[in-house]
Parts: sequence; C-alpha cells; structure tokens
Amino acid sequence: MEQPFLRIEGVGKSFGPFQAVRDVNLDVARGEIFSLLGGSGCGKTTLLRMLAGFETPTEGRIFLDGKDMAGVPPWARPVHMMFQSYALFPHMTVERNIAYGLKHEDMSGPQRAARVAEMLDLVQLTPFAKRKPHQISGGQRQRVALARALARQPKLLLLDEPLAALDKKLREHTQFELMSIQERTGVTFIVVTHDQEEAMTLSDRIAVMDKGQVKQVGSPTEIYEFPKSRFVASFIGSVTAFDAVVVAGVLEVPALGVPVVARDMDFAPGTKVTLALRPEKLRISRERPDGPNAVPGVVKGLAYFGKDSLYRIELASGAVVQAHAVNLARGSGVADWDDQVWLSFDPGAAIVLGE
Ligand SMILES: Nc1ncnc2c1ncn2[C@@H]1O[C@H](COP(=O)(O)OP(=O)(O)OP(=O)(O)O)[C@@H](O)[C@H]1O
Ligand SMILES: [Mg+2]
Repeated sequence: MEQPFLRIEGVGKSFGPFQAVRDVNLDVARGEIFSLLGGSGCGKTTLLRMLAGFETPTEGRIFLDGKDMAGVPPWARPVHMMFQSYALFPHMTVERNIAYGLKHEDMSGPQRAARVAEMLDLVQLTPFAKRKPHQISGGQRQRVALARALARQPKLLLLDEPLAALDKKLREHTQFELMSIQERTGVTFIVVTHDQEEAMTLSDRIAVMDKGQVKQVGSPTEIYEFPKSRFVASFIGSVTAFDAVVVAGVLEVPALGVPVVARDMDFAPGTKVTLALRPEKLRISRERPDGPNAVPGVVKGLAYFGKDSLYRIELASGAVVQAHAVNLARGSGVADWDDQVWLSFDPGAAIVLGE
C-alpha cells in the first residue's frame, strides 16, 4: 500500500482508568471494505467514533487522505457514520429522510432533488419515496439509512453493525447489496460486526479485535487459514486445539498420541505451541490411511445437517475431536455411533500457533 487512505497510528482511548482501545495501528486503502470484527465490548464502536470525530483519542493519530484529523470536528470530516439503529425520522417520508443527510450542504433545491433521486435509484427504493419508515420493511429501512449516509458523498463510510436488525435471509441478500453499492460508488467502507461469516463475506480485509487490541489483520482467507494466535483461530470458524511441544521436526501432542507432521512450523525444538485443527480439514475413514497424522478413535456423537455431518470422535487419551464430512452418498454417512474410525489430516492442514 503506497499512501493509505486512512492511517490509524498508535491510537488508544481510555475512559478514566479503563482502556477501551489500545495501540491500534491500521492502514486502509481507498475503496476497501474493511471490517472490525470482535466480541461485545472489545472497542469496535469506540474506534469508529474516534474515526468519525465523536470521541477524541487519548493517544495516537488518525490521518485521512494524508490529513491529520486531530481537532477536526465530525461535520468537517469527509466521513459519515451510520448507527446501528439507523436513526430514521418516523414522521418523514423516505425521500425527506434521505434529503436530511444534505442539510449542511450548500445545494440548490433542484440539485438536492436530483441527488435524492440518484440515491433512491442506487438503493432501488424509488417506488417507496413517499412512504414513511413504518410502511417499509426492515431491509428497506436499512437501505434508506444507507442512502442518507451516501447522499453527502462521504469519502469514508463507517457502518456500525449495519445488518444486525435483519433476519438471516435478508442479511445475506443485503450483504451482497452493500458490496455492489460499494463497488458502484467507490466509497471506502469500514464495517463493524460481531458476525464472522458476515465479515468473511463482505470484506477485502478484516481486523480481529480483542480487549481493545487488534490481534490480526488480513484477508478473510489469511485470517481463516493462517491465524496467528489461539484467540483468532477459535474466534473465526471452529477448531479443536491441543497443547503440543516441538521436537526434532515433528510435534509431540499428548492428546493425539502420535507424532504430528506439520508443514509450516518455524519454531525451535522445545517450544510449547498449540496445534489447531479445523473440522473440515479432517478425514474420517474405516481403514487406517497411508501416510502421517493418522489417529484412531471412536464416534461418540453425530449431527446430521443434510449436506454434511459433524462427528465427535473420542481418542484413546479421552480427548474429543470434531470432524466434518460431506455426505457424498444418499442415506449413509462414513460412520455411525460407536464405530471405530481413523482420523487423519495433511501436514498442510495442521495450524501451529505460538501464542
Ligand atoms: N463513554 C464511556 N465511558 C466509559 N466506558 C465506555 C464508554 N464507552 C464505551 N465504554 C466501554 O468501552 C468498552 C468498549 O466499548 P465499545 O462500545 O467500543 O464496544 P463494542 O466492541 O462496540 O461492543 P458491542 O459489540 O457490544 O457493541 C466497553 O467495555 C464499554 O463499556
Ligand atoms: Mg458496538
């Protein structure tokens, strides 16, 4: 990244003795959809509010388009923040709600009307222009809020849990709509979410946060396939994690009872690490497979989801591993309750974590 559009440099925020955000360093490129992902209370909204100018950082600096934002009030920033509740005015029609976003702009009546019409078209709500918020659906209200936010043509749009109020189907549909609107407008989006699937679907890159800190930044694939810590590995997707020790080229994993061959492992012998295995990267077979990383076990739980099944397999050590298997044939999975099976995985599937 050459000159990042948004640069967050060593930013922190304390409320009295409590540190809500700690030493956050992030660069966001122009036109990116960037997500902040993390559990409740980890500091996502506080970070957004600092970008919008509603909170002042206790430490660090924020640069937008190369310009230091310190002391710049919210209304003077080319930034718009869309709140979770949408904050639409119930007594105003859809088009007046959108026009409200332009109240500080120096525009003539016809210019304003043209911009509103353009925004209605963008979010496909032209037929609903004269309705009031209670006369449209939740997803449509979300699009009105988005249109109002985009009307001012911000360079940076901050969305705090934009889809949280929508049901699952509508949320999936609206995710794709958001992406297409972002593509057409070129506006840089920062989206806060605690839903990891949403972050994976929407984002070019994700920052995973915990207790006010950014734990890892990367593309959805990097975060999922190459997590750098136990926290990130278990926050994104599911894993079974084991304590392990590095010995001469392999991992000693007491719970598995066999030496594990891992591909990406740059730790000195004697280092204590975590081995994390994702359920979909494990194979279940009746016969002992050829090759390394094969462990015997017994099926002690089975959940059938139609397209696939989740197996809980108990090993001789008493450890329980979760494994997903796609149901290729109709009517029968690879194994049943209490069956003796073999679990195995490729060296490339073993995630080895130092922290
Ligand atoms: N004005 C404030 N005064 C004191 N503490 C605050 C204030 N605002 C936020 N906090 C605290 O800072 C922490 C981070 O809050 P924040 O709203 O940023 O969390 P979040 O990640 O957005 O969580 P959620 O997913 O629940 O919305 C929380 O522990 C919260 O209680
Ligand atoms: Mg929040």
